[in-house]
Amino acid sequence: MTDAGNRPVAVVTGGAGGIGSACCRALSGKGFTVGIHFRKSREQAEALLAEINGDGFLLQADLGDTGQIDAMVDQVKKEAGRLDVLVNNAGMSLNQPIYSMKIDDFDLQRTMARGAWYLTKRVLRVFMIRRAQGRIINISSVVGHTGNAGQVAYTMEKAAMDAMTRSLAKEFAGRNILVNSVAPGFIDTEMTGELPEEVRDRIMAEIPLGRMGKAEEVAEVVAFLASGATYIQGSVIHVNGGLYGG
Ligand SMILES: NC(=O)c1ccc[n+]([C@@H]2O[C@H](COP(=O)([O-])OP(=O)(O)OC[C@H]3O[C@@H](n4cnc5c(N)ncnc54)[C@H](OP(=O)(O)O)[C@@H]3O)[C@@H](O)[C@H]2O)c1
Repeated sequence: MTDAGNRPVAVVTGGAGGIGSACCRALSGKGFTVGIHFRKSREQAEALLAEINGDGFLLQADLGDTGQIDAMVDQVKKEAGRLDVLVNNAGMSLNQPIYSMKIDDFDLQRTMARGAWYLTKRVLRVFMIRRAQGRIINISSVVGHTGNAGQVAYTMEKAAMDAMTRSLAKEFAGRNILVNSVAPGFIDTEMTGELPEEVRDRIMAEIPLGRMGKAEEVAEVVAFLASGATYIQGSVIHVNGGLYGG
């Protein structure tokens, strides 16, 4: 077990990635012991744990596999004994026109909302419901609201994350569990680095603030929802430089 003591504990899925690692740093800065979840990025996760002075722990799981999610929840129980905040951040985007996308790719894309749903269900059951306390923060996307050409499956997944937020917020408001989404716009990470240049240029031209966002600018909103924000429930907070207002 970590020496979490009475410190609150947060788990960030995809915690070694661009937005995820910024969330881990911001939550650590707010006094959380942070469970850094990763699937493949062990080296980055280990470096991040060292960077936050070892005040956390590592969790490895493929969120497409419910058995691995169960094992991850058991590990949080052993490592920290409690979980106050879950940030469902892990994600991937397959960019392909609908006519050429294969059903296997669609199924791969849909594992992300499925995994977030299953992890949330387990975390509510094991940690949050009995303590009548907890916060769930889902990282969705502006494109779940605006749509995006070549991203039908991804936008369906991201819209699903916000639908989960709204329904869970209603289901658990009476149990003091706050559920909200943060919907980033165009943020400078590996994920957007993979977009073709003409797509990047087209999006940039549409952003009123005239630049991509930084992962830290998303993370500071996540940290606010995790540690303050006592009267925000079932909301989608847009962080997109004016691209879309909600
Ligand atoms: N960047 C943007 O502009 C943007 C905009 C809107 C929304 N978002 C959302 O923000 C979140 C973070 O994105 P990012 O830009 O920081 O991307 P990123 O750097 O690629 O991070 C995504 C993380 O998700 C993890 N992941 C992917 N598939 C997984 C699986 N099956 N099981 C477990 N973990 C898995 C990866 O972990 P491993 O590396 O360990 O495999 C990776 O670290 C995503 O949900 C994304 O959709 C991003």
